[in-house]
Amino acid sequence: MTEDIVVVPGDGIGQEVVPAAVEVLEALDGVDFEFTEYDAGDETLAETGEALPEETYEAAASADATLFGAAGESAADVILPLREAVDSFANVRPARAYPGVDALRPETDLVFVRENTEGVYSGIESEIADGVTTLTRVVTEDASRRIAEFGFDYAEQNGYEDVTIAHKANVMRVTDGAFLDACEAVGDERGADYDDALMDALAMHLLLRPEEYGVVIAPNLAGDVLSDLAAGLVGGLGLLPSANVGSERGLFEPVHGSAPDIAGQGIANPCATVLSAAMMLDHLGYGEAAADVRDAVEGVLAEGPHTPDLGGDASTEDVTAAIVERL
Ligand code: NAI
Ligand code: MG
Repeated sequence: MTEDIVVVPGDGIGQEVVPAAVEVLEALDGVDFEFTEYDAGDETLAETGEALPEETYEAAASADATLFGAAGESAADVILPLREAVDSFANVRPARAYPGVDALRPETDLVFVRENTEGVYSGIESEIADGVTTLTRVVTEDASRRIAEFGFDYAEQNGYEDVTIAHKANVMRVTDGAFLDACEAVGDERGADYDDALMDALAMHLLLRPEEYGVVIAPNLAGDVLSDLAAGLVGGLGLLPSANVGSERGLFEPVHGSAPDIAGQGIANPCATVLSAAMMLDHLGYGEAAADVRDAVEGVLAEGPHTPDLGGDASTEDVTAAIVERL
């Protein structure tokens, strides 16, 4: 069976790390891909007046999976509709420390399961008077239950014992109260073990004692912020993959952005995007190939070569070639 994959490199280092991940996928035996590249991002906006052309949206909405790199300033106009195009409600962000990589907290093995459709990223913002702006935060019981079900399933299927529900229900009593109630109800119905944590205190605890946490189920904004914090624990954004899933299709992307400070130099770390491609393989049902790709990345992280963000002097191409060689 041929897997129809939409590839959207986007801006900056997206143009470097996405081809690297495609190269790794093409090196796999036994999986037949057809890659089709589409445009999105700042350059597309400058050329066409649209950051996300209809054609790209439609392609993502009908492909088996989409591999995305990053967009620059237009990121919100690209990524939010793309996540919607694939009908995803869960943003899964694993943050693991790897042997061979200098990590602030080498014992870190966390997975953020972030609600991907509502919260303060509802997009309902307005300037109601000169100098006065508002934002409407949307939290529904259905979406909160859905992400909780997903998070508890993920923990069970992937062997994580600790499940934590992040929230700030002591202040946002109605909205985060609803999120927490829904998540607790799901946990209780399943007889699952879980804790809840105020998201600000959780940020501190993750920094001090990440080993006490496993799967963190979080509202949209909290999941975004806490997973970047976790990137700092394990050695930087160049290592963090993510999956936008929940329905049949999926959108797979590194957590990082377009990194204009290093774009065009050929030194971006491709690991986050290659690991995102591994999540895509899992989603498509190629668990063995996904494990092979992860092993290859882990081998390269353990023994080098490393890009400059990890203290090495290798290029994106060197690291990609080393991953392919291990496959
Ligand atoms: P960023 O993730 O692009 O970069 C932050 C820092 O991490 C930079 O110093 C960068 O060099 C480094 N870095 C990131 N990925 C790396 C990699 N693979 N290898 C080596 N170093 C890496 O975040 P920043 O600087 O806040 O945003 C830059 C642009 O990216 C902005 O225009 C922002 O809007 C956009 N952005 C897009 C996202 C997306 O498309 N999903 C997500 C985050 C930011
Ligand atoms: Mg972010």
